[in-house]
Parts: sequence; structure tokens; C-alpha cells
Amino acid sequence: MIQLTEAATLTIQEGIGIISINNPPVNALGFPVRKGIADGIDQSVKDDQVKAIIIICEGRTFCAGADIKEFGQPPKDPGLGDVLEVLDASPKPTLAAIHGTAFGGGLETALSCHFRVGIPSAKFGLPEVKLGLLPGAGGTQRLPRVVGIEKALKMIAIGNPIGAAEALKVGLIDELVEGDLKEGAINFMKKVLAENRPLKKVSENNEKIEADRGNSEVFDSFRKSIARKARGFDAPENCIKAVEAAVNLPFAEGLERERNLFMELMQGNQSAAQRYAFFAERQVAKIPDIPKDTPQLDIKKVGIIGAGTMGGGIAMNFVNAGFQVTLVETKQEFLDRGLGVIKKNYDITASKGKMSAEEVESRMSLITGTLSMEDLADVDMVIEAVYENMDLKKEIFKKLDSICKADAILATNTSYLDVNEIAAVTSRPEFVLGTHFFSPANVMRLLEVVRGEKTSKSVLATTLTIGKKIKKVAVVVGVCHGFAGNRMFAQRARESNFLVLEGAPVEQVDKVIYDFGFPMGPYVLRDLIGMDVGWNPKTSSSSTIQEIMCEAGRLGQKSGSGFYKYEVGNRTPIPDPEALQMISDFAAKQGYDKREISDDEIKKRCIYSLINEGAKILEEGIAVRPSDIDIIWINGYGWPVYLGGPMFYADLIGLDQVLETLKEYEGRFGEVWKPAALIEKLVGEGKGFKDLN
Ligand code: 3HC
Repeated sequence: MIQLTEAATLTIQEGIGIISINNPPVNALGFPVRKGIADGIDQSVKDDQVKAIIIICEGRTFCAGADIKEFGQPPKDPGLGDVLEVLDASPKPTLAAIHGTAFGGGLETALSCHFRVGIPSAKFGLPEVKLGLLPGAGGTQRLPRVVGIEKALKMIAIGNPIGAAEALKVGLIDELVEGDLKEGAINFMKKVLAENRPLKKVSENNEKIEADRGNSEVFDSFRKSIARKARGFDAPENCIKAVEAAVNLPFAEGLERERNLFMELMQGNQSAAQRYAFFAERQVAKIPDIPKDTPQLDIKKVGIIGAGTMGGGIAMNFVNAGFQVTLVETKQEFLDRGLGVIKKNYDITASKGKMSAEEVESRMSLITGTLSMEDLADVDMVIEAVYENMDLKKEIFKKLDSICKADAILATNTSYLDVNEIAAVTSRPEFVLGTHFFSPANVMRLLEVVRGEKTSKSVLATTLTIGKKIKKVAVVVGVCHGFAGNRMFAQRARESNFLVLEGAPVEQVDKVIYDFGFPMGPYVLRDLIGMDVGWNPKTSSSSTIQEIMCEAGRLGQKSGSGFYKYEVGNRTPIPDPEALQMISDFAAKQGYDKREISDDEIKKRCIYSLINEGAKILEEGIAVRPSDIDIIWINGYGWPVYLGGPMFYADLIGLDQVLETLKEYEGRFGEVWKPAALIEKLVGEGKGFKDLN
């Protein structure tokens, strides 16, 4: 065995040179891997004993891509593109033997080999677009030549991976290896040699792209198909342009075009934000005082109290991850309704072909419905998901304390309430914490894990692991009204409310927020949620916009009018002069002078209010680090990932600029705009939020 670099070896076995890569955790293509491959090819080509070459990886996966941590650093030769040219030009047959994930530069490496095989669980993808980039080592030029334009466009500009069975079907791999991968790869190469098969150089194969040369229709229709999801992002368009180049230009020119389009993205803010978000998402699980080896509880059976919208969604998360769920309701009809909704959701998934009827049955069979809390005696974790009422929650937790096993975790799904107060009614506050799911709970990725004063480290660590198992991004926050996300959201709600009272039409506020990159503005959102959420008809006294709207029966989309009008069966908001007049009359009564408000002021008041509150949340230790807040906003509130989250965005525009505006607004609008001490401190030290990550 020859040690090529610290991350690669070359072994010659039965006339085959096996380049083996070992660069944990994901065999990213950092310098020692790139050099290892280049040297391994070089030595194998020169060695007469070697008739064919295999690239294989050790550990959990084939290469997961370029080493993202190297981006932005001075380049170190050989670059991946140079290595892949060496691979492409090899006069001896080359093969990539794939397990785990061949992603990004990893798949580009495999595409530069003459042959590819993979095990059935392997996944293949070019997810660079999710980092605000495009495949920059020939992927946009080679993949269309292998799988055709339409499939390549989807894989490159949307970035979702495909499994091994599909990879075989579309020609991305030559063979599935059922047993040992290395053995299978060697056998495959022996066949190639025995049959004297020609080298399948992807760069020279134009069969699948020739027919579409000069045909712009296929690209235009793809652009249309992704327009909604790609809104605001730069990378998807560059991805499409690169694939267009693959079709219309000779290979070498296409590569050059790809490089230019890649560099354009790499130097922009969007990719910086998206790469930041990639690492920030992985950082959330790291809590400074909770070491990796913190003992964890074994959670198999989960109890959920409440089969309403939240409880049902939460149950689906657990069932999807294979947990047994006991679902508790107070009345049979509520239970039946809740179970019916879950079944219907699965049936819809099945009708789209994403799940079989048997799978629907097997998931439903994991749920046991009951009307008795006593049935929670043997569960390992309970999530209470009843409506927001402190007295009711306390009553439930007292009961749970007497029914559940001594080491069962007791979690409350609350958006605002004091988790410490709930924990205090039990004899085991160290086993109590909050799990704030976002609606719809089976869809939204965010989970705020609320750490109570007495929550034990083991309970917190276990809940984070469970969060990962149920495919959530679990972010730890401390106890305060609204935790991190809703506490910040309330600031934006306050400002958008003032803005319309001061004279900005709701459409203008909504448009500014939508154009900023959120999926919808605050008033469209309010109509969607329902104006009556949080409205009490008994105490309503026409004293807020919400009250006058609700009193007039304008409950939002569901009643056909709210801040906007809606046609029956259509969710499109239609501007409604009547609603504007109601707001304007109300504002006049309250003594507001109507004025024109610029888009810039709307943006700053809605966004800087978030930033200022985020800073206070950090000061108080409610969030662990600024990037955790950003992950909350990206995954729970639709903050555009290409702007990195409110704290990243603050650094992007300059924290000193933000501070100046906060001070100006404090002068104009009062105390609520007082800049957080943390912002003053950071600006004073010439630092940004990034220095706290
Ligand atoms: N570069 C550097 N580090 C990486 C990395 C990469 N490409 N991919 C993953 N890592 C790190 C993670 O940050 C994490 O580090 P940590 O343990 O210190 O937090 C560790 O590897 C494990 O990653 P995950 O926690 O994500 O592990 P999973 O098993 O859940 O997922 C994975 C593995 C599916 C490979 C996932 O990590 C992933 O999707 N990685 C990114 C893949 C990607 O985007 N590749 C394209 C890179 S850009 C590129 O190739 C450009 C080229 O075209 C020129």
C-alpha cells in the first residue's frame, strides 16, 4: 500500500489500482484528497502492472463535495477542476465505487470516471445550488451528457439528490452492487478489461444533448416551473445558464462558461449567506455546557396530549421516524377527528405516489388513540399540545407527574408560556422542558427547545437527539415570553401595525416584506391565520385594528374578507378599499396624522425591530449565539436564506448603520427603539454579530 497523502492511499490488487480516500467525516475534497487522487492516477497510469483504476472511500460516505470550509481561502493547487481533467484523460479505465452520498464535487469526480457503480442505499446529487452556487468542477457540463437535459436541470438547479435505483435507470451508474462494494467494483472492472470495453468518456459523449442544441424552449419552460421557488435566488438562473452552455457550446468552452458563472456566485453575498446558514444549522446542536458524551435517555414510546392541528402534526413527525405514539384526547369525537386528519394527510401523500398504501397502514398502526391519560404510564416522553392556557397546562402536568415513569421527559408545546412555572407543579422539574413546534408541525422544520431553569443536561441532550430523529432543526432557547422567534416576531407585528396607522396601505407593507424575500407580507399572513386568533368577542371594544375587523365579521380568508377581499374558493388577496377606509377612520380617531411612508422606512422598521430584539435576546442569554437566531428565522418564519437571517443581515448592512437608524427611530418613535446595549457594545468595539458565533 502506498500512502499518497494523509487522506489517500493506493493499493494494487489483481492488476487494479485502488485509490482509497479517508478524510472524515464526509470525505470532503480538501487539498489532501485532491492531491491524493491526482497522484494516485498519475502513479497508476505510469505503473505497467495496473490495468484499471478504482476510486473508493472509507467511512460513512463517498465524497460529499468540495470542502466548503476552504471556500474564500486562497486556492491550493491542484484545484478540483485540474484533478478531474487528469481523471478524464486517464488512458486506463477508471471507476468510482460509491456508497453514502456522492454529492457536489464528489459526484463531479464520479462523473469524470469512465464507469460508476453504487450500493443500493447510495445517493447522488449536485446540491451546490442550496449553497448559492453551481457545480463548478464540470458537473453542469457532464451531468446533462449522462442523464439528459431535463433530469440534469432538476438535479442541478433544484439540487435534490436521487437514489441508486433511479441513478441506474437514468444511466448515472452502470451497475448496482448488492454485496461488498470493493469486491463488486473489482469484479466490474475485471469485466471491463476482459471485454476490452471502450472508455466511456463523458466529456466526449454528446448523444443526449445534441438534439436540443439551439432549443431554448426546454430551458424557458424549466425556468417557469421553478419561478415561484427560485424567487429572489441568484444561483438557480446561473445553473440553468451553465446547462444551456453544456448544450450549445463545445465541452471546453462550456467548462469555461461554468467557471465564470460559478465565480460570479462565489463572490456574491447570497452564497456567503447560504454557506453560513449550512454551518449555522449544524452548529445549533452544539450547546457550550452540554458535552457530546452527555448521557441520554432511551426514547421509544411517546405520548402526545391533544389530537388537534398541533398534536396531530407532532404525532406524524414521531410516527414518520418510527416511534410508537399514544395519542390522548378528552372526547372520542376529537380523537376520531384527529386520527382522521392524520390518515387523510397520509392518504394525500400516497395519492401523489410518495408513499404506498401499506406504508400508510403501517404508520397509522404506530398510533394508539386513548381517552385516558393513565395510558401514558409506560411512555418515555410526553408532549402536551393543548391550547395555550396556563391553568390547564399546570393541571395536565400535575397529572402527568403522578402517572408517568420517574424518568419520562415531560414537554410542553407552547409558543409563549413560562416553562418554569409549568415545571414547578411537578416533582421533577429537571425532566420538564418546552418543545415549541411550528404550524403545520408535520411540515415546518423548526423546533424551539425551551430549556427551563431546572431542565437537566441529559433531558436537553436527549430532546435535541429526538429533534434530529424527527428531522427537525432543534434550536435551544431560554424561557421568556415568546422565546426567541415569537418575541422577535411581535416587534415586527408592532411596527407593521403602526405603519398602517400612520398611513401606509396594507398592500404597501405587504409588498415591501414580500419583495424583501419573505413568502408573504404580515397582512396577507394575518388573513391566512385568521383575524380571530387571539380575539375575545366578550371583551372586544373597537380599541384595536384587530377588534374592529373582527367585530365587522372580517375574520380573514375563511370569511371572505379581512385586510383583503377573497373570492369564493380563491386564496388570492384582492385589495379592499373598504378595509383601508376602516383602518384610516380608526387611525384618525386615535389621533394619527396620515402621511406617505417610503418603502425604505417600512423595510427598516419591520426588519431593524427584529434585529434590535434579537440583540436583546442574546444579551439575556435566551439564544446561545446569533446564528441560532438566524436559523430560527430561516426555518420558522420564512426569512430568505440568501440573506442569512436577521443577525447575518445586520452585519451585511453594517451594524453601525443599523445603530444609527435605531437611534434616529428612538428619537422619532420613542423608547421601544432604544438600541440594545449589545449593539452599542459591538459597534464600539468595531465588531459584528459574527464575532459572537
Ligand atoms: N465541506 C466541509 N464540511 C462538510 C461538508 C463539506 N462539503 N459536508 C459536510 N461537512 C461537515 C459538516 O459541517 C459536519 O461538521 P460538524 O460535525 O463539525 O458539524 C459534518 O461534516 C457532518 O455533516 P452533517 O452533520 O451534515 O452529516 P449528515 O450525515 O447529516 O449529512 C451530508 C451528510 C449529506 C453529506 C451533508 O453534510 C451534506 O449535505 N453536505 C453538503 C454537501 C454539499 O453541499 N456538497 C457540495 C459542496 S460544494 C461543491 O462541491 C462545489 C464543487 O462543485 C466545486
